Amino acid sequence: MPQIKFYKRDPIPMEMHKVKIVQKLNLLPADERLKKMYDAGFNTFQLHNGDIFMDMLTDSGVNAMSDNMQSAMLRADDAYAGSETFFRMRDKLEEIFGIKYFLPAHQGRACENILATYFVKPDSCVIMNYHFTTAKAHITRLKGRVEELVADAGLIAKSDLPFKGDMDLDKLEACIKKETPENVAFIRIEAGTNLIGGQPISYSNMKAVTEIAKKYGIVTVMDASLLQDNIYFNKIREEGLKDKTPAEILRMIADLFDIIYFSGRKFGFARGGGILVRDEKLFHSMEDLVPMFEGFLTYGGMSVKEMEAMTVGFDESLDMDIISQGPQFIDYCVKKLDEYGVPVITPGGGLGAHLNAMEFVSHIPQQQYPAGALVCAMYLCGGIRGMERGTLSEERNADGSERFASMELVRLALPRRVFTLSQTEYVIDRVKWVYDHREMIGGLRFTHEPATLRFFTGILEPVSDWPEKLIAAYKAEFGEDQ
Ligand SMILES: Cc1ncc(COP(=O)(O)O)c(C=O)c1O
Repeated sequence: MPQIKFYKRDPIPMEMHKVKIVQKLNLLPADERLKKMYDAGFNTFQLHNGDIFMDMLTDSGVNAMSDNMQSAMLRADDAYAGSETFFRMRDKLEEIFGIKYFLPAHQGRACENILATYFVKPDSCVIMNYHFTTAKAHITRLKGRVEELVADAGLIAKSDLPFKGDMDLDKLEACIKKETPENVAFIRIEAGTNLIGGQPISYSNMKAVTEIAKKYGIVTVMDASLLQDNIYFNKIREEGLKDKTPAEILRMIADLFDIIYFSGRKFGFARGGGILVRDEKLFHSMEDLVPMFEGFLTYGGMSVKEMEAMTVGFDESLDMDIISQGPQFIDYCVKKLDEYGVPVITPGGGLGAHLNAMEFVSHIPQQQYPAGALVCAMYLCGGIRGMERGTLSEERNADGSERFASMELVRLALPRRVFTLSQTEYVIDRVKWVYDHREMIGGLRFTHEPATLRFFTGILEPVSDWPEKLIAAYKAEFGEDQ
């Protein structure tokens, strides 16, 4: 972990790497951004990357690779069946997770599809600390239900709670009794809980949850996509874990679960995914689903080059110099915004800095998607692309009414090893400008609303001419070309 001391100033987060390949950025003039926002239907997923200055949409598949990851790609073995690349990957996973059986899949949601297809029956229930969009969509597609039992304190935007992803254990027992254990398809714990601000879950809570699950004979599943961030926080925030290495903490966590799946777009810094299954019989009964949906069992829809890179990336996910950089940049960003009075989720988590839109633009009603509007304002005012994580990312109730999200967040992701501190400073500065002009931001409404995962492909429009007025104020401040 960087502990670089400074002579003349307070320490700042340090990049423990140097840049060897770069991608040129483009800052469109303000009026062009306004046009692009209309072209994209006020949905940041629909923007073209060439029209974006700071792409902070996600950390998924956009993390920088190391020289070692890139060079490993050269030895990829592209055999359809029996690829040596697969065996290297499987062996590395067994070495770090201690689980022998591995089902490869093309990305995280493919794992979720396989798990839901195998375990979820109509009206069965999956208990989780908190849902992730695609995890939930696969469960509800099969007419299952999701029960989110994150402790109430985890949903308080501003706090100093170190592990906001922890599950409420009393609610867990009560829920199992109400549902009956037979009707619980599995219990899913998400590391680095994405939708509540990349907030970690403590090892002690995971242990308690899995003990309760065992008592009732319920299968436990860990979503390890954001595990590297979670491990960082376990090490620096959790009593009794400070002297453990990330590898030791990972193994302690892994030992608790029956099944572990991950998006390799996050965990492993490449593009792919997979499911680790502890029980041999269970593994064999699930394995048919891989050739059916993904590809043969020794590549699972992944590029073999990516698999080689990921195998190196797994080790890098356990290197404190590497996994500390994201959380430290996020902490820096969150603290500065907090000092400016901007409503942010505290403490900073992994994944990105999260603006609390419920408070930031409190004048916008939830049915007009406050976080969706704020994310568009951030693109208009600085070319910064974030992601809406609020009501727009929910699906409607069966009766067609809106399901209002418990949190309205704008995520400004900090993909690992990608942005510098000066770029982070630019983002902090523009967020402050937008905050000081927040009253100018108005709501959005759908003009095309897909039934499933509407945030990906939905088309919206502003409820008034607020974008034009906001851009005029922005140009008056910074000039036409910014
Ligand atoms: C916690 C979590 N689980 C699952 C997924 C799905 O992974 P993928 O994007 O690889 O399908 C994501 C993606 O963002 C995630 O953050």
